[in-house]
Amino acid sequence: MATVREQEAFLRAFHAAHPAVTVRAMAHGRADDGRSSYEIFRDRVAACERVLDLGCGDGMLLELLAEQGRPADGALAGVDLSAEELALARCRPGVGRADLRAGRAQQLPFEDGRFDGCVSHMALMLMGDAERVAAEVARVLAPGGTLAVALGGGAAGDEAYAAFLRVARPLFVAAPADQRIPSLGDRRLRSREGFDAVFGPAGFGPARWETVRIDLTGPLERVWATVGGFYDLGPLDPAVTAELRARFEREAAALARPDGRIPCAMRVHIATAVRSDALGGAYRHGGEE
Ligand SMILES: C[S@@+](CC[C@H](N)C(=O)[O-])C[C@H]1O[C@@H](n2cnc3c(N)ncnc32)[C@H](O)[C@@H]1O
Repeated sequence: MATVREQEAFLRAFHAAHPAVTVRAMAHGRADDGRSSYEIFRDRVAACERVLDLGCGDGMLLELLAEQGRPADGALAGVDLSAEELALARCRPGVGRADLRAGRAQQLPFEDGRFDGCVSHMALMLMGDAERVAAEVARVLAPGGTLAVALGGGAAGDEAYAAFLRVARPLFVAAPADQRIPSLGDRRLRSREGFDAVFGPAGFGPARWETVRIDLTGPLERVWATVGGFYDLGPLDPAVTAELRARFEREAAALARPDGRIPCAMRVHIATAVRSDALGGAYRHGGEE
């Protein structure tokens, strides 16, 4: 079992080599109502004046939040492990006024009660020491503040995403130890019960839990950008990755629609919880590990 430090070292190195990987994988995806998963989260905290993006990556969601027109400098903030992702975020329109920090969600560099909204798109499920993350989010949110989190829910339907997993899993399992990624994050955060078990004691009410289908159908190249963003590909021997891609492309070609586009969809769980008036027993202010 990897330590949290080993997990974070892997994530830093991966995102240094592949900044903006999540945006390339997901930003073109659309839910049934036509919104991207990022737009769904923008709308979840539309009424919040001061919003933190936890694991903000290259700032895609912060840019959408900036377009909503929060007047004050520092009304938006982002934190991420990766300096390379944050450098991209700083270049986005509107995000220059945000308070961007390199740091860990387990030890947030923000004062108590500073935010009334916190979003985290495809990042919380990667974070180790989940209780400490929950306590820190509770600390920086004001009572009544909203937490909205997107968590990966795997393939939706038997399309290209599922085909990729069928082809890739045996190769990931067969890879030598030095080409495998550490286990990342806390599996409890992938279910409503587990989420409540972690966030309830920190001072959050029960989560509202929804699952949306994000359609990522597109030309083969774009579908590869989605599935090829898997962390597991990072340390793989390039020859194995090339073989995986060739096998995947054969499977994907068999799924192609008459217009040549490849059907591809994933599920995203959306957990929304409200910070209650009282902080839970897990509350600790900026403690060291
Ligand atoms: C899959 S990416 C998602 C990025 C962005 N939210 C998006 O959806 O485009 C996960 C991000 O979470 C960050 N991250 C993971 N663990 C973290 C932690 N403990 N503290 C801060 N950032 C973290 C990674 O560096 C990475 O940028």
